[in-house]
Amino acid sequence: MKVLITGGAGFIGSWLVESLLKAGHDITVIDNLSPQIHGALPRPDAAWLQDGSEVKFIRADIRNSAAMDEALAQVEAVVHLAAETGTGQSMYQIAHYYDVNQQATAALFEAIATRHRQVKRVVLASSRSIYGEGAYELDGQLHVPNSRNVDRLKRGEFEPVGPKGQTLKLIATPEHSTPAPASVYAATKLANESLGRVFSEAYGTQVLALRFQNVYGERQSLRNPYTGILSIFSNRMRQGLPINIFEDGLESRDFVHVSDVVRAITLGLEKDLGGFHALNVGAGVPTTVMEMAQALGRLLKSSSSLQTSGDFRAGDIRHCYADLSKAREVLGFEPLVTTEQGLSRFCEWVQTQAVLEDRSAQAMAELTKLGLGNSKG
Ligand SMILES: NC(=O)c1ccc[n+]([C@@H]2O[C@H](COP(=O)([O-])OP(=O)(O)OC[C@H]3O[C@@H](n4cnc5c(N)ncnc54)[C@H](O)[C@@H]3O)[C@@H](O)[C@H]2O)c1
Repeated sequence: MKVLITGGAGFIGSWLVESLLKAGHDITVIDNLSPQIHGALPRPDAAWLQDGSEVKFIRADIRNSAAMDEALAQVEAVVHLAAETGTGQSMYQIAHYYDVNQQATAALFEAIATRHRQVKRVVLASSRSIYGEGAYELDGQLHVPNSRNVDRLKRGEFEPVGPKGQTLKLIATPEHSTPAPASVYAATKLANESLGRVFSEAYGTQVLALRFQNVYGERQSLRNPYTGILSIFSNRMRQGLPINIFEDGLESRDFVHVSDVVRAITLGLEKDLGGFHALNVGAGVPTTVMEMAQALGRLLKSSSSLQTSGDFRAGDIRHCYADLSKAREVLGFEPLVTTEQGLSRFCEWVQTQAVLEDRSAQAMAELTKLGLGNSKG
């Protein structure tokens, strides 16, 4: 297949390029090599970005319609990964996040509808963030609590509760859980899913929205201070700096290794599914941020102290992990990398990378100044 990968120079994209090349696909990448992600260029670890590589690389912004037309020429399938990805940052760069994530996706669908009808399959990088809080059980029913109230968070009451203050039981989040984005980033991802469904129904194009959980692994951006707790923690741990764990450390996420995500995307590209589908992609297990930090500390032999500060950010959720039943059924997807294996691969790689100036405190200060976070530090 001739496949266009937008954002193909990024973390997930770079893995996907390698994997699809090995499988014999013909790859075009469009990516603007955003400095927040890539820092100084050229990137020595991305040989396929250099001239003479078998990948057609277009360094351009996805909002540039002429460049998108060039990228889409003769393409049969698109994996749309390019996006701004900082949840916290999206809360004040609202128009920019809308522009890059949502408007550019609308333009992509319009380009396919009007000028590139040979495109038969689109995979959209969606996100677990569209759910807002994960799913819980209340009185034997699936229950999705509202966004957490800032006054409760300030009092250190972090667990979501039922409408009458009831205790909730965390369960795996299925795709039919009511979406409730808690950030601008998440709202753009949900809007893209809606666009994808409408587009698929109107034009018969197969559109698959994959709701990634927290993706981690070798080659994730160590520079972006707005996203990726493993990057932020490992960078600080390698400098012996204390680790500020938000809330009480018992918040949990579903950490999925990038190679599993790439397998899910590949299955979605290669399978004839027809129509529109939205599927969870994760490891299917919750891990607390404290557990993750402790495991990282062990593997990196770090002397950093782990401090739970009670800091929090507007738009952050307490828990969410994926129900993978539908992904198993529709794609035959099964995560293969355990957290232990994935983390040790990540740590081995991270130790080959330069230690960077830590900018996470500055990122938190920006949020606090805007009243979107609560930092005591
Ligand atoms: N990594 C995760 O945990 C995660 C979780 C859920 C969803 N996702 C989604 O998966 C996709 C890929 O994520 P990633 O972790 O590889 O991110 P990444 O930041 O590493 O990669 C994104 C790539 O897009 C490029 N890009 C950004 N803006 C662009 C623009 N205007 N024009 C052209 N290129 C642009 C960047 O240069 C970068 O190479 C994103 O859509 C993200 O929202 C990621």
